[in-house]
Amino acid sequence: MRKLLLAAALCALAFSPSAVSAEDPIVIKFSHVVAPDTPKGKASEKFKALAEKYTNGRVKVEVYHNSTLYKDKEELEALQLGAVQMLAPSNSKFGPIGVKEFEVFDLPYILPNIAALRAVTDGPLGKRLLKLLESKGMVGLAYWDNGFKQMSANKPLRKPEDFQGLKFRIQSSKVLEAQFRALGAVPQVMAFSEVYQALQTGVVDGQENTPSNIYTQKMHEVQKYISHTDHGYIGYVVVVNKAFWEGLPADIRGQLERAMADATTYGNDISQKENAEAFEAIKKSGKSEILELTAAEQTALRNAMEPVYKEMAARLGQPIIDEFLKETGAATH
Ligand code: LMR
Repeated sequence: MRKLLLAAALCALAFSPSAVSAEDPIVIKFSHVVAPDTPKGKASEKFKALAEKYTNGRVKVEVYHNSTLYKDKEELEALQLGAVQMLAPSNSKFGPIGVKEFEVFDLPYILPNIAALRAVTDGPLGKRLLKLLESKGMVGLAYWDNGFKQMSANKPLRKPEDFQGLKFRIQSSKVLEAQFRALGAVPQVMAFSEVYQALQTGVVDGQENTPSNIYTQKMHEVQKYISHTDHGYIGYVVVVNKAFWEGLPADIRGQLERAMADATTYGNDISQKENAEAFEAIKKSGKSEILELTAAEQTALRNAMEPVYKEMAARLGQPIIDEFLKETGAATH
């Protein structure tokens, strides 16, 4: 923490827009936890290129991939302290800073497809959720896609009983915790950067993630089976430190908003293809067997996870769940 505070103080001095001379570029440190060769990695590089171009070099974006600067929980604290300016944590990671409502995206099988997701993120609920971040010292700039999650372990996972007693790594979301408990499994919150080793050494038995994350972190090399479940979704909120953002000259902020809008279109356009290619690459590697589930198996898993909706209504608020479902086009779940 002391290190973080010191870094924050130094960064606040060095990167406060008012403290820089006309020639010094404004530096945006953009920290995230996944590999460069992922939808988020590529979108962050696109943002860097466009932000630097649109501001004629008045802004310099430093992208730190793969948790090289901070891990999950630390990066949110670092953003609040001003040690970094921009992040793109998944929807599942805002609970620990007191914005639990984004966990609605984690409800099992809540998104039938990307069109339904877009209806939510582009609609009034998506905008209201972003506003909640402002009381936490951050501004939500955009929603970035990753894709649908698959379950993996060293034993085949087809039926709810297969999950019984297994330890699964989860992101820091109470909805994901409830999801694995509903399956009789034991959830364990863990930073993304630690998952590969935890799987390799048997600290946990399994995990859930998108093909792109599984492939680029080589999780498929330490998991014998991946069930093609598409039971949940991983997407991101791009957040920026509020004081930093509001302290920027208006023309610069305008150009950065433009760069963000363009990078968002780019990233969200490639995310499905990136995940399909990663899934193919996993299959080709032969290291992990992909299990296609029958309709009956999918239904049994879905039914086993259904109680999570009732259980999490108290945490998320039933109106949020209802509005979310309505915007996806589903009458009920
Ligand atoms: C995870 O922790 O599994 C993901 O949120 C990582 C990411 O940023 O995609």
